[in-house]
Amino acid sequence: MKILDLKNGIFVLETENTHYVLGVDKNGYNRHIHWGKKCDVKDYRIFNWGDENSNHTTLDEMKQECTAFGQTMYRECVLKATFPDGCREINSKFIGSKIEGSTLTLTFSDKLYSLEYDLSYTLYDKGDIITRSITVRNTGNEPINFEHLYSAEFTLPSIKPYKFRNTNGAWGGEFVETESCLDGGSLVFESRKGISGHNNSPYFIAHQDADEKCGKVYFGSLAYSGNFKVKATRDLYGITRIIIGMNDFDFGYTLGGGEEFTTPAVHFGMTEGFGEMSRQMNRFCVDNVLPKQFNDKILPVLYNSWEATEFNVSVEGQTKLAELAADMGVELFVMDDGWFGARNNDRAGLGDWYVNKEKFPNGLDELIQNVNNLGMDFGLWVEPEMVNPDSDLFRAHPEWAYHYDTREACELRHQLVLNMTRSDVQEYILNVLDKLLTDHNIKYIKWDMNRPFSETGAENLDNPKMLYYLHTKAVYDIVDTLKERHPDVAIESCSSGGGRSDLGALTHYDQAWTSDNTDGIDRMTIQKGYSLLRPTKTMRAWVTDIAGINKPCSLDFRFNIAMQGALGVGGNLLNYSKEDLEICKKNIALYKEIRDIVQFGDLYRILDADKDEVLMNQYVTADKSRSVAFIAARGTRFYKKRLPLTFDGLDENKRYSFEFWGEKHTMSGSYLMNVGIPTHIHGAYYNKIIVLEEVK
Ligand code: DGJ
Repeated sequence: MKILDLKNGIFVLETENTHYVLGVDKNGYNRHIHWGKKCDVKDYRIFNWGDENSNHTTLDEMKQECTAFGQTMYRECVLKATFPDGCREINSKFIGSKIEGSTLTLTFSDKLYSLEYDLSYTLYDKGDIITRSITVRNTGNEPINFEHLYSAEFTLPSIKPYKFRNTNGAWGGEFVETESCLDGGSLVFESRKGISGHNNSPYFIAHQDADEKCGKVYFGSLAYSGNFKVKATRDLYGITRIIIGMNDFDFGYTLGGGEEFTTPAVHFGMTEGFGEMSRQMNRFCVDNVLPKQFNDKILPVLYNSWEATEFNVSVEGQTKLAELAADMGVELFVMDDGWFGARNNDRAGLGDWYVNKEKFPNGLDELIQNVNNLGMDFGLWVEPEMVNPDSDLFRAHPEWAYHYDTREACELRHQLVLNMTRSDVQEYILNVLDKLLTDHNIKYIKWDMNRPFSETGAENLDNPKMLYYLHTKAVYDIVDTLKERHPDVAIESCSSGGGRSDLGALTHYDQAWTSDNTDGIDRMTIQKGYSLLRPTKTMRAWVTDIAGINKPCSLDFRFNIAMQGALGVGGNLLNYSKEDLEICKKNIALYKEIRDIVQFGDLYRILDADKDEVLMNQYVTADKSRSVAFIAARGTRFYKKRLPLTFDGLDENKRYSFEFWGEKHTMSGSYLMNVGIPTHIHGAYYNKIIVLEEVK
């Protein structure tokens, strides 16, 4: 990996397989030059065209790394600000460049006003991912008010239309993939709900005719959990540009005199095929994005009480579940909602983070001790950013929820969002969580967030439109402080399922709850969408009693699907037969043998449940010595049931042993990848797990 300063205003960011080339022209404009395969660096240059005519200006057609609104540039802009005298244009000059370690920074300033900004790019030792962000600095005394403060602008190389993959999900149906072709005009993927949300993902994936293995894929993922926007446009010449960052919807940011602000980061790259994109991003996130305490640790098998007991938790009930969970091999027992305040249903209690004395007359420690005695760690659910109007907290501090004095607050799930931009609210939440973790042997927190924002008044702020950013930052800061004070506690991000599982959340939280939909069939689609640009080991997947929406699918089938992430169990074990409990035990034991391959290996998506009717996902260790393939099908049609299972990612010269058709076999990597093993997939809910081990 290296950064080349060609000394002619052009900089080449060289990754393992790509060049990302940018520069500054003689007029001081930042310019985008190339993104893709490596070329001879001598050939990189900046072209200048004249105006086409008075309606299509050179400036408007320029390819830039960061468009600042002003002059005759009408395309979507990254930066837009109002200066203290009311001027709303930025007109920049180049100040200089700096290469420090593996980071290139280009600095620009306004020609007249006291605004400076840095475009920063960081490279890594391995792979093709680059991280970029923008830092704005107010070098004067008067405030500058930003209306656009995006993180990055990208320009794609071909003039032919690109297709954009994203997700169009919902609660219970997260990460459902979509593909839209951008011929002209614009495409927008965004959230306006205060969190990144269930609908679109804060990333872009652009390609022309790529598939899992071939074709150029350009992608970038925003590390931010608040309102985001990805906007792609295609102009009259066929140039496709993308801006990505904090949404400008209801947005503002006041940069006071002497202050600076760095936008959320974007991790981006170009690969051959979607498979390589996901593998690179997966490895990159494990090494560089996830919090350091647990990034390289195997995640434990957990049990979560939510689906079994909902709000009806008690020492006795939870202990009974814990005994069964421990017996089947669970390592972490998590008590979900219902343990605090007057929380007997979702109408009351949020905000009152003290134990419910009726349910736990001797406090939390009695249950924690029972769980620990069974050899498991204990985890707890909280929803810190929320308050029920029916709570002691709200009765004491009604002003702590976002509100306008003149408007009635819209309740969703009978709750309101706390104004996390207030220091007293931040202090309350930090103290209450810190105390819980200090007083009890808790090793895991599930941090939930179950409604979008509304009535977003924040009278404590001079510029209330900063609240979306400040709220997100406050959440990150509290999570970071808790982790600093309690480094052995893992924290999971949950938001009514997968509503806050972006790479911003995963920079602070160790894992994410994927979806409240644990149906084995739906999960095949949900987990595929998750795997595109999110790391596998963060994907919590439980086996529950939602045993198939149309027909029950077997426990083995549900385990097959849930084992493809960080396995959990969430059914009501009290209703399980002896045989069911044995099936759980057997699968958990198998998962423990292969989970390092799943959580840290390279994923090859070989067959797609939706397109191919059969799902085949294969995970391979970095040294290609071990691999596990999961095969599952909801049911096959008569002519779709015989196929050779071909593998991927193996070493063609190694030999692998595995069990199939009830017998042991040894075959070469090249045979397994090029010929495959003939398979008869038949019956409803077919599922198989094939473990390959190198034979030395
Ligand atoms: C929503 C989460 O997604 C569920 O897993 C559960 O924790 C409930 N909230 C509890 O209220």
